[in-house]
This record gives sequence, C-alpha cells and structure tokens, in this order.
Amino acid sequence: ASLARFVDPLPIPPTMRAAGQRAHKAYPGQQLPYYRMEMRAFQAKLHRDVPATPLWGYAGSFPGPTLEAQRNEPLLVEWVNALPAQHFLPIDHNIHGAGKDTPPVRVVTHVHGARVPADGDGYPEDWYTPGHSKLYLYPNGQDAATLWYHDHAMGITRLNIYAGLAGAYIVRDAEEQKLGLPSGDYDIPLILCDRLLAQDGQLYYPVSDDPSAPWVMQCLGNLPLCNGKIFPFLEVEPRRYRFRLINVANTSFFDLSLSQDQAFQQIASDQGLLSKPLERVRIELYPAERADVLIDFSALAGKSVQLRHQSQGIVEFRVRSSATRDASVLPSALREVPRIDPASAARHRVMTLNEIDDANGNALMMLLDGKHWADPISENPRQNSLETWSFVNLTGDAHPIHLHLVRFQIVDRRPFDLFAWNAHRQLTFTGPAVAPEPHEMGWKDTVRADPGMVTRIAMRFEGEPGRYVWHCHFLEHEDNEMMRPYEVLPATS
Ligand code: C2O
Ligand code: CU
Repeated sequence: ASLARFVDPLPIPPTMRAAGQRAHKAYPGQQLPYYRMEMRAFQAKLHRDVPATPLWGYAGSFPGPTLEAQRNEPLLVEWVNALPAQHFLPIDHNIHGAGKDTPPVRVVTHVHGARVPADGDGYPEDWYTPGHSKLYLYPNGQDAATLWYHDHAMGITRLNIYAGLAGAYIVRDAEEQKLGLPSGDYDIPLILCDRLLAQDGQLYYPVSDDPSAPWVMQCLGNLPLCNGKIFPFLEVEPRRYRFRLINVANTSFFDLSLSQDQAFQQIASDQGLLSKPLERVRIELYPAERADVLIDFSALAGKSVQLRHQSQGIVEFRVRSSATRDASVLPSALREVPRIDPASAARHRVMTLNEIDDANGNALMMLLDGKHWADPISENPRQNSLETWSFVNLTGDAHPIHLHLVRFQIVDRRPFDLFAWNAHRQLTFTGPAVAPEPHEMGWKDTVRADPGMVTRIAMRFEGEPGRYVWHCHFLEHEDNEMMRPYEVLPATS
C-alpha cells in the first residue's frame, strides 16, 4: 500500500486501573484487586489517511489496556461480553464448534502464558454470549514475563482476535526490578500484527471461493500494525528503552531489525528473562512469541531509527536531542535459567503435526497427532511431573506450537526420514540433533516446529490439575482442529 509513512504517533496502551476490590474463596480473608474488562464494538483510526475502522476491543480499544501484575499478587478480572449480537467477519459453520446452532458472537478470554487454575484459563468451550461475563482469578505465581490476553472461543478465535480482541499482560517481580532495566515511561509494549483493509477502512478477512465454507488456512495482512496503528512514529530520548515485542498476528511472522545498523539487546523471551542479554541484529517472531529488547538510542540524538519487518519500516523512532538522565543499566547477567535434563522425564510423548488434504491436494485442515478436538484426551501428564513432548512435523510448513499452563524449554530439533514415517510409522533420524539457538535457551511457551524436523520440548506440569489445551498458534489452524485438550492429573502423593 502507498499509505504515508510515520504520520501518526504510536499509541501506548494505558495500564488498566482496578475498579475496586473483591474477596475470592481461594484467598480467605483477603481483598483482591478487581478489574472489569468490557469487550465492545468501536471504531478507530488505524492511520491518518484511512477512514475509521469498525473493530472489537477490550475496554473498547485495540490493543486493549495493559494489565499489570506483580508476582504472587493475585488479581481478579471480570471479562464482560458487551459485543453486538451479530458477527461482522465470515464465520465458517462447517468448523467444529461453530455450527449454525451456536450463537455467532461468543467469547472467552485466555491469558497467554499465565499459570492459572483450569476454570480460569479460558477453555475454548467455556464461551459466553453478549450480556454475560466471567470472573477469572489470576494468581500470578510465576516469573516476570510479557504475557498477553486474547479471545479463545471455539471455532472463531481467528475472527475475534482479528476483530481486535487482544492486549498485553505484564508480570513483574522483585528480582527483575532489582536489575535496573529501563522502566516506567521507558518500558513500552509493541504489539505487532497485520491486517487487510478495504479502501473504506473496513477490515477484510480473507475467504475461500466456496461461500458455504469460507475458512482459509492462512490470513496474511498487507499492512503492519504496531499498537493498533499503521506506520506510527514514537519520539524517544537519546537513552536506553525496553520494548516488549509481541506478535499477535493470525498467521504472519515478523522478521525484525533496526535501521542505522543498530542492534537489539534481547533480554527476555516468552516466559521471561534470558540468563544474559544477547546482542541480536534480527529477531524473528512467530505468532504468539515474544521478545523483550533493549534499544540504546544514546548515540543517535537528532536522528531517526526504524523498526523494520524485512525491508519495510513499520515504526519510526525519532530521537530527541537531549535526554533526562538515564540511570538504567544493561546488566551482564539477568536470571539463572537452569537447564531441564530431558533424560529425567517421567514420560516421553511423540506427536505428529499433519495436514489433511482433499482429493485435489488442497489442505482441508491440520491435526495434532492425527486427532480431532473431539477425540478422547490422550495427553494426561501428572501434576508436577516432568515430560518431554516431541512434535514430528509431517507438513511442509513450520507451526508455532503452544501449551497452556506451563513454561517449557526447547531441547532440540532433529531431521527425520518422512518417507520411512509414511511407509511404516517409524521414526528414523537422518542427522544429528540441532541444539536451540542462544535466544531459544530461555523459558518458552510457544515453539516453532520446523518442517522435516522433530522438535522436542521439556516441561514440568506445575499448576493445578484440570483441563487445558495445546495447539498451533496459527489461528486459522487452531480454529480448524489443530488444537487438542489435555488434562493435568492430580499428583499422586
Ligand atoms: Cu495464545 Cu491458546 O493461546
Ligand atoms: Cu499450524
């Protein structure tokens, strides 16, 4: 598109304020902060020269306001469905859970990366219709990290998030706060996605050429958005900043770099701090992945720097000529990340990622381990036990695989013989295991499972027993069967 570049200031989502305090049975005698988040239809200018776009958003904005939590300080959020009765994006009623008998507008919110009890995790079938709400408890018993909240309603998650139902959720903790990283006004989420927009400003969601089955297997936008604006700019001081990069796109990955030969210092991945900062020139983020970076503008007073996706500038930082004193530091060490020993796992599971084609070779859907959502539960780890899960990718594409509840480590990726697998379901490796890259050595909750590879992760199932999900975070895949329930069974002793 030929839209003017960098004419709108970058919006910074406001931090959500508590609406009051409430008691909760899990914390007898305590009053917990209570937030009320209303999902509403609204219109927003995504760019100076584009007419206002109808959207749905938390608290009537896209992205929604940022929820901030402190480690081990629980909070309550009432997620209120105040949306209209009709959807404005193309529902495919052939998809499981989105039949003509289900109400078109239904929502349920999941905080991506949060360790929460199962009944507050936003299970896809726990959706509710306009006029209803759910009160969820977030214990925040986890390390500081950049999380995000988004819709997770069965069969229409891709449409609800595309409509604008997403926002940042930041967990802080004392250990991180002691490091002296840039904070306050110098700690800014950059929520990235892409969209297709019609001339009149309406969101366009792609459809197949069969009007009775509009689902498509990918949704690639042509305009990048950062914090809900197309090509925004941000005035910065010549000093250090922390940016929390979050990819909330349906399908697109971001291949991020800075102009002026600037490098990022990556300090955190999905689930919090790396063991030490990593200097990186390019950062690739698949859907739902996060990277926290420091950018030092101190040598660039009076200049401008662009955050780019491939060669396209998506945000411009305009560096002022003078700064207030910068007391922040770039620490040499951040937080220990003890390696999990996969050999000590109680159980090793091997699951395929597969594509189901029609007679003409067109993809109909993707499955996890050949199973549909409605098939009986097959993954049932014991609470507190350690497991490895290996994803044998039989498809031609990488898929970002996400598990709810847990944080994990990437163990390795190893090439295998697809022919041998197809012929007799036999896993034959064709080369040595490839260790994760340094930026993948921190805690993760979403992993890129490459084609032709077995991607192995290891995690301990800490948290409460109950039913959670794991899925591909390409939202089109997730909505159409590339998602499975799993159940954490109570610890035995
Ligand atoms: Cu980001 Cu199941 O979700
Ligand atoms: Cu996928």
